Amino acid sequence: TKFPDDDPSVATCKIENGIAWLSFNRPDKRNCMSPNLNRRMGEILDEIEFRDDFGVLVLKGEGTAWSAGMDLKEYFRDTEAKGLGATRAAQRESYGWWRRLRWYQKPTIAMVNGWCFGGGYGPLYACDLAIAADEAQFALSEINWGILPGGGATKVVVDLLSMRDAMYHALTGELIGGKKAAEWRLVNESVPLDQLETRVTELANVLLKKNPVALKATKDAIRRVRDMTYDNAEDYLVRAQEAANSYDNHGRKEGIKQFIDEKSYKPGLGAYDK
Ligand code: ACO
Repeated sequence: TKFPDDDPSVATCKIENGIAWLSFNRPDKRNCMSPNLNRRMGEILDEIEFRDDFGVLVLKGEGTAWSAGMDLKEYFRDTEAKGLGATRAAQRESYGWWRRLRWYQKPTIAMVNGWCFGGGYGPLYACDLAIAADEAQFALSEINWGILPGGGATKVVVDLLSMRDAMYHALTGELIGGKKAAEWRLVNESVPLDQLETRVTELANVLLKKNPVALKATKDAIRRVRDMTYDNAEDYLVRAQEAANSYDNHGRKEGIKQFIDEKSYKPGLGAYDK
């Protein structure tokens, strides 16, 4: 569906020196996520994913917020007024771009410059690494307006925090700063705001020196093996490594060429000539 009233500027991206700087860009609304913003994020991720002029994606927020979570008006109230179908569509768009980000082709870093609430934990978790400003403020504020932390937020804190910290965080809705977020392992580390971009650029440059096929295989492996038994993980990792090793395998291309261009065999009736 096309949404002609959508404003494309609610999310922006700048590619510079091998890094894609993707921004939540609704600073006046503290970068809360409207359906328009979610749609735009999905479009940008699709547009740039396989470009070869960048190797790391950084997700940042313009202004004083990283993201104040879901847009309580446009994402919740206005959508709910249109019925369950509209609610489900809005969920697909938001969950959709977070999922795209979790399995993105390039490694990703959340640069948490300010407010990070509720639904913001979805993209936060989706980023492979997260560096916060000491001044950033995090909360699962859902409890403060009467809902449970949905949209994956509960799963995020249970995956990343201890059970006690996750429970405390979700039941109280209290704010924590960047330092506490790092202590709780919600983010990798926290630095003063005026050093945040320098630190993130430094980290991105470390990743830019690595083999990109290995980076993608590694980030996926870290997420996949979490839910596996040791034996399943061992097997998965052997196969993932072998798949990465044969990344430049041209056999399939040859098979397609012999069928489509040379018409020398039919895959339905037999194998191509190696
Ligand atoms: N949904 C809708 N509008 C929002 C949201 C939001 N999540 N967050 C901020 N805004 C809007 C405000 O309504 C205001 O709009 P207006 O200028 O048209 O009046 C504008 O953004 C600026 O917000 P202020 O509250 O004036 O900014 P301030 O810097 O004083 O406070 C803060 C920032 C603390 C982030 C505050 O805006 C806030 O509490 N936002 C809601 C945070 C939240 O609980 N999000 C929901 C989490 S639950 C979930 O995502 C499922």
